[in-house]
Amino acid sequence: MSRTPIIAGNWKMNTGIAQGEALAAAIVDGMSPSQVEVVLCPPYTHLTRVGAVLANSPVMLGAQDLHWEDHGAYTGKVSAAMLKEARVNYVIVGHSEQRSYFHESDESVNRKISRCLIAGLHPIVCVGETLEERKSGRTNEVLSTQIRGGFAGIAAQGVRHCVVAYEPVWAIGTGVVASEQQAQEAHAFIRGEFEAIYGAMVAGDLRIQYGGSMKPQNAAGLLAQPDIDGGLIGGASLNAESFLGIIRAA
Ligand code: PGA
Repeated sequence: MSRTPIIAGNWKMNTGIAQGEALAAAIVDGMSPSQVEVVLCPPYTHLTRVGAVLANSPVMLGAQDLHWEDHGAYTGKVSAAMLKEARVNYVIVGHSEQRSYFHESDESVNRKISRCLIAGLHPIVCVGETLEERKSGRTNEVLSTQIRGGFAGIAAQGVRHCVVAYEPVWAIGTGVVASEQQAQEAHAFIRGEFEAIYGAMVAGDLRIQYGGSMKPQNAAGLLAQPDIDGGLIGGASLNAESFLGIIRAA
């Protein structure tokens, strides 16, 4: 079992196109050779241009979502085939902002994971509980429901191409980071769920990122936890120095 750490920047709906190109270039320039996998997920409008900046670098391109259908009358949506053509490798699926603002359900997450795998894209599947759910002692139940619903019918071979991101909703964009112990406990639980469904080999190889107010100052401690294999970074990925600081911590 050896899991290559993976650090992904989720730019969300931020940066202009030229600004995004400059940010990507600064990250590429600032990277020293490392064993860490790095992914940048800009808005759709930036993909081809940011992709061109990343072309001869080890940094990979990711998208923030996709639609599960291939093509057709789905105004506003982007398909896996389109993302492939834009040279995207990773796709964030089931982010809590999609779940809470745009009606993402475990069923739509499931369809999106399937479509990614059919297309040869790697989904980064987000799960996580709200503060209310944590306070009422339902964290594990929520994680289990999201995992079992999202991965329903997905074969073990497919899971090998997936990354999971544990993102407690209360930590996203709030500056309130989960403690190392809270994060490790949730990650161990998530890995245990995958072990129960897919067995120890698949679970042991699965990379589980932490996301939610990860910063250069707290990254090393979180990433040192045995079940934390990387980070999904929002706010701190919009500044090259802080994103590079997190990569160095990994
Ligand atoms: P944050 O966002 O780092 O700004 O908390 C993380 C995410 O939503 O992926």
